[in-house]
Formats: sequence, structure tokens, C-alpha cells
Amino acid sequence: MYRTNYCGLVTQSQLDEDVTLCGWVDRRRDHGGVIFIDLRDREGIVQVVFDPDAGDFFALADKVRTEYVLKVRGRVRARSAETVNAAMNTGEIEIYGVHLEILNEALTPPFQLDQHVVVGEDVRLKYRYMDLRRADMQKSLRLRSAVSNSIRNYLSEHGFLDVETPIMTRATPEGARDYLIPSRTYPGQFFAMPQSPQLFKQMLMVAGCDRYYQIAKCFRDEDLRADRQPEFTQIDVEASFVDEQDVMALAEQMISAVFAEHMDVDLGEFSRMTYAEAMHRFGSDKPDMRIPLELVEIKDLLADIEFKVFAGPANDPNCRVSALKVPGGATISRKQIDEYTKFVGVYGAKGLAWIKVNALEDGVDGLQSPIIKFLGEAVTLDIMHRLQAQNGDIVFFGADKSQVVSEALGALRCRIGADLNLYSCQWAPLWVVDFPMFEALDGGGLTPLHHPFTAPSCSAEALLKAPEDALSRAYDVVLNGYELGGGSIRIHDQAMQANVFDVLGIDANEQRDKFGFLLDALQYGAPPHGGIALGLDRLMMLMLGSDSIRDVIAFPKTQSAACLLTEAPSPVASSQLRDLGIRVRKADS
Ligand code: AMO
Ligand code: AMP
Repeated sequence: MYRTNYCGLVTQSQLDEDVTLCGWVDRRRDHGGVIFIDLRDREGIVQVVFDPDAGDFFALADKVRTEYVLKVRGRVRARSAETVNAAMNTGEIEIYGVHLEILNEALTPPFQLDQHVVVGEDVRLKYRYMDLRRADMQKSLRLRSAVSNSIRNYLSEHGFLDVETPIMTRATPEGARDYLIPSRTYPGQFFAMPQSPQLFKQMLMVAGCDRYYQIAKCFRDEDLRADRQPEFTQIDVEASFVDEQDVMALAEQMISAVFAEHMDVDLGEFSRMTYAEAMHRFGSDKPDMRIPLELVEIKDLLADIEFKVFAGPANDPNCRVSALKVPGGATISRKQIDEYTKFVGVYGAKGLAWIKVNALEDGVDGLQSPIIKFLGEAVTLDIMHRLQAQNGDIVFFGADKSQVVSEALGALRCRIGADLNLYSCQWAPLWVVDFPMFEALDGGGLTPLHHPFTAPSCSAEALLKAPEDALSRAYDVVLNGYELGGGSIRIHDQAMQANVFDVLGIDANEQRDKFGFLLDALQYGAPPHGGIALGLDRLMMLMLGSDSIRDVIAFPKTQSAACLLTEAPSPVASSQLRDLGIRVRKADS
């Protein structure tokens, strides 16, 4: 038998018992002839003491080094009052060692596992098995396991069947590039890895499965950000004979149950908002509702001024001119404003005009700003009035294409919310509904805002007549400014599906070629159906308060989609390429 107990779980109730423990040496200290070893396993750390009475084992204890793997036998004894360590679970006891076996030695760790030591992420990822020994990483793995267990139980209790869908499949358009797998048996042909199980879950509904779920791996070759990985996990759900209220209620209850069980948090009823309102008030389709700042339209006040920077956009229907008032923000320094100007530049903003409100009772003399001279006194005061500005406030302005202003001021709102810690609550869940079906592509044409299987809220005639005005039956769930999940009621009618493909400019041949199987399935008795997918990684990020998705994935990839541990991707033998009928072109230089 290797062990009787976990190191971290030995308790005071075991005083005077003999225990056998296995674990890693967290720390070894030599205190004048007595050797202390902090022995660590998954459950925590316990202090083991060897004194010279242990004979050969004392000598052996002297040889152990950090991260050696040990098996220790000893007696549980109380620590003396002055050595009790209240910060440790096992801080009131220690193990008086009588036997020691070194199960394995270890090289000097590439970094200290101490929580407080800052280590470069590249090193952490290269030695991920060491990094995962750290207590916060262990906590992350455990919470993730517990949360996926709760979700499985919840969905299973609600009648959902766990069905696995293929990883080697055809492309599923979710807006990213596909990862491809070359076929040996069909030279020159490729499988695509799924961007989501979308089409399979819909076909499971046609198959009469009624309620499906899967904790599914998805693959997307897209630009990576702090909350995106090329390979990630969805809690994927689909049900038949449901409407949007049913799916939203189910997802909301499931998320609430997880927060109640694992965080002791009551999320309350999720708020709801249309896409149009979210963009208008917060410049984002995933607004962080913890931040009490809003964009205010001032286009109408600026139509007649001389200042081209504002008057131009104010007279252009594709533009918006908005103001963001930050109460108490007049203390923001010039240097910080310059920094914010750079920040909004990333979103395409050409500048960031501002007005500080010092003494409103003095009219424009009480304001400080680089633009009042261009706006004129009357317009400036009208703006102040519309914003209900007060002394001590700062107001920022954006004037540009609507998308640029929304993104720039939307992001600035979040940045200032974080910088000034303006959060009004800890958790702010929100449903965003009534999304447009399509968005315009830069070079002309339309692209689906969600995926092309989302049902429109309007009739086929209305859709074909003015597709850019059509709304969809899609919904997103947003938590603290992150898009946690999204779903929709689907098209279950073949003709409607073909209409949507038509609007997207996918001609009949291409429809047949790419989605023939779906269009066929829709003609064999497809029930009305809909569903949702939540990002498990993002859920874990939020629950753990982490700002990097890599902290909640055991073996994540870097920002450039590589695995530093296994050094994947990697070149392959030319014989393998030959088998696949592939020749690699030299990268264009
Ligand atoms: P969608 O593309 O919105 O919908 O994805 C659903 C959720 O998956 C998470 N997610 C990601 N997480 C980490 N890294 C990524 N690269 C990544 N991409 C997406 C997000 C997102 O909200 N088939 C539809 C769902 C449906 O309609 O039922 C879909 O995949 O949390
Ligand atoms: P300029 O006349 O270009 O020096 O701009 C005067 C002020 O307006 C500066 O504070 C700029 O940062 C700001 N500004 C310039 N372009 C824009 C814009 N498109 N939106 C908001 N502010 C702008």
C-alpha cells in the first residue's frame, strides 16, 4: 500500500495515529539538526519532521530536494503552541517521521512553484506539468471538474441525452477558419474539425432525440485574444418543440444553479436588452452591466457647427456622435487622457475629444477642453445640459462611423470602469435579444451575425425584401462584459434555409455541395427546434476571476496557437506527406 491518507487531509482527530503519506517536497529546512519537510499532494501540504533518532532515514531526509517524490511513514502529533500555523489546513499538527523512501528524484524546478513568484507564461506553458502543481492551478482544475459534473447532472436530470458528435467532419460555418485534416484514403480531400457541433445537433433533433447535450470540443482558427483559444469547450445544448423563452429559461437556471452551488452567489433574474439598445447605450453587444456609464447621442446638437471633425459625422447617416460622461472623472490627468486616446485609436478612433467640468456655474469659463473653441458656447452648454453634467465630471466624445464610435467608446467605458473601479455590483448577467440576421461586409454583401441556421423573426417575404432589416430569433447570454454563450431557434423549413443561403449569396450548387445533407434532413420531418452553447472556458474564467483563458485549460495553446509543451504544430516526415498526397510549398518570403 502506498499511502493511508492525503497529505493535505491529515487532521487533528488523527493525533497519535501512524500514517503513510506520498507526495512532493514543497520545501525542506534544516533547523539545527532537525529536518522539516513540507510534503505536498493534491489536497495540500503537511509538515514532516525527521530528527536524528530516525537514524538512516534522518540521513536520507537530509538528501531530499525540492520536488522529490517521497513516501513517508510517521506519527501524527500536535505542534507546540508557538509553531501552530493558522494559514495551513494541517497547521496544528505535524508528522513525526520514522520511515522514508525516495520514490523519485527531481531536477531543480525551472521555476519556483510559490504562488507569489511571477513566472513568464512561456516557461509555465513549456513545463505545464510543473505549473499545474501550483495550488491555484490545482484549484482551477478541480473547480472545472466540479462545474462540468454539475452541468452534466443538471442536464441529465432535465432529460438531455449526452451524444458525442464527430471531430472529423465537414466544415460548420461559425465565422472562423477551419482546421483541416487531410484524408489518406481520398487523396487531395480533407475533413474539417468542427467549429461547433451545430449541424449534428440539429440532425439529432430530426432524428427524434428531443433533448441533446454535449460538453464538446470545438476548433476555430481565428485571431486569438485573452478569452479565445483555437481549441475550446462548449456546453452544447439543443431541444425540440421549444421557443426562445424555453431555451433561455433552461440556460439561465443552469448557470444560476452552478453559481449558487460553487460560488454561493445568487445571480438573480438575468436582465434582458435588445441588440439595438445595447449598441446604442453601451456601444457593445456584450455590455458589462456592472459599470454605470452610458453613451449619449449628441448628433442632433452638432449638425450645424463649423468644426468638421464633429459636423461631418453628425450629418452622415452611417455615423454616430456620442458622449461618455464619467462622474468624478475631472481628476483624470492629461497623461491618462493621452493614454486613453491611444487606447481608442486601436479601434480606429481618430481622436478623443474631452471636456472637464470644473465650475458649471461659470458657464463655458468653468469648463476645460481642447474643443470648446470649435463647438461654441451655446452648443457646449446644450451638450452639458443633455448629459446633466456636474462639477467634477469629465465627458469624452467620439465622432466617426457608427461601428468605430461604438467600439471605441464601448471599450473606453469598460477600461475606465476598471481603472476607476466603478463597478456597482459583482455579477451582472444579461440576455441580449433581437439581433439582426445579417451584418454588412466591408466589400459589400451580407454575412450572418450568428450562423446561417438561425431562424429569422420575420416572414420569408420580409426577409427577401429587406434582409438587412431582418431580426433573428437569436439570444446571447452575457456576464460581466463577456459573451458567455449564444444560441437561437433554428430554421426547420428547407425553403427558408435555402432563402437564407440565397441572401448570403450562396448559390444553389454551392448549397447542395456544402449543405445538401442538411437541406435533405430538413425535408424528412424536421421538428421546430433550438438551442444554445455556453463557453465552458469562459464560464470558468469568470468563476475563477482570471483574466486569461489559459489559466482554466490544463494544456492551452499560446496566442499564436502553438503548444509549447509538445512543440506542436511540428513538421512531419516526408513519407507521411507522400501518403497524404501533400507537398508543402515554401513559405512566401
Ligand atoms: P458561438 O459561436 O456563439 O455559437 O459559440 C458559443 C460560445 O462558445 C464560446 N466560444 C469560445 N470560447 C473560447 N475560445 C473561442 N475561440 C470561442 N469561440 C466561441 C463563447 C461563445 O459564446 N453553434 C453555436 C451555438 C448555438 O447556436 O447553439 C455556436 O457555436 O462563450
Ligand atoms: P484636432 O482638431 O484634430 O486637433 O482635434 C481636436 C480634438 O478633437 C482633440 O482632442 C482630438 O483628440 C479630438 N478628435 C479628433 N477627431 C476626433 C473624433 N473622430 N472623435 C472624437 N474626438 C476627436
